[in-house]
Amino acid sequence: MADGIYEVIRSYDGHLFQLQQHIDRLNYGAKALQFCQNSFEALKDVAEKLIDINDLKQGAATVYLQITRGVANRSHKYPSPETPLTVYAIPKPLIINNSEQEKGISAITVTDQRWERCDIKSIGLLLNTMAHQQAINANAKESIFIRNNFLTEGSHTNVLMAKNNTIITPPVTHHILNGITRKVVLDICDHLKIGICQRAIHENELFSADELMVVGTTVEITPVVLLNNQTIGNGFPGRLTRQLQKSFGELTIKD
Ligand code: PDD
Repeated sequence: MADGIYEVIRSYDGHLFQLQQHIDRLNYGAKALQFCQNSFEALKDVAEKLIDINDLKQGAATVYLQITRGVANRSHKYPSPETPLTVYAIPKPLIINNSEQEKGISAITVTDQRWERCDIKSIGLLLNTMAHQQAINANAKESIFIRNNFLTEGSHTNVLMAKNNTIITPPVTHHILNGITRKVVLDICDHLKIGICQRAIHENELFSADELMVVGTTVEITPVVLLNNQTIGNGFPGRLTRQLQKSFGELTIKD
């Protein structure tokens, strides 16, 4: 049924980055899906303890949290509200590929065939994984979804472009995940007085971007230097991308 929601939270040297925002998004998803419980503040302690007792307080790690509607007979209606939710949590060390953030990656565009509620971080990820695999098969690292000729997001990232010194990204709608990294990056732009424009982006615009980047909990800020084998900008990570990466790095230390 894929009747569940999840979060991936990043730990930097034992510190869970943007933990409250991840819990808030779980609560949002649980409300949208009318789960019998929609406040998961207690999972903050669980996530912290998992990092601690699994000796992951140094370096990069993630905590994966998953909440499903619980165990019940197969049926198309929700089970009775007394059915306890199933909560699953697992910590894992994270292997980071620095060269992707340093040199940039290649990405491809794919048609966005997902449902209309991509704002819910559903465990039903089949179209995301199919899209991501399509990128791997094409020797690329990420797929960028296009819905009716307009950019939505990546298979597991949000997408931002730079044009004429402004950061442009699609607004938050039901067609994208309200990404936590996206929000952090936009806040950094505000702080650095870099112009921001949240508007629909036609797929053709992507190819004439000065800089293109995918952002997310696991990839942080990763430049895209090739899209469908076409060079973006001058083919190297750009000035704004570098500035944002630097500020983001500083935030992960002190957040
Ligand atoms: N994915 N869009 C989609 C479809 C995602 O799956 C993700 C994150 C993002 C970025 O959101 P955030 O900045 O809050 O991580 C955008 C996680 C990391 C995953 O599925 O592994």
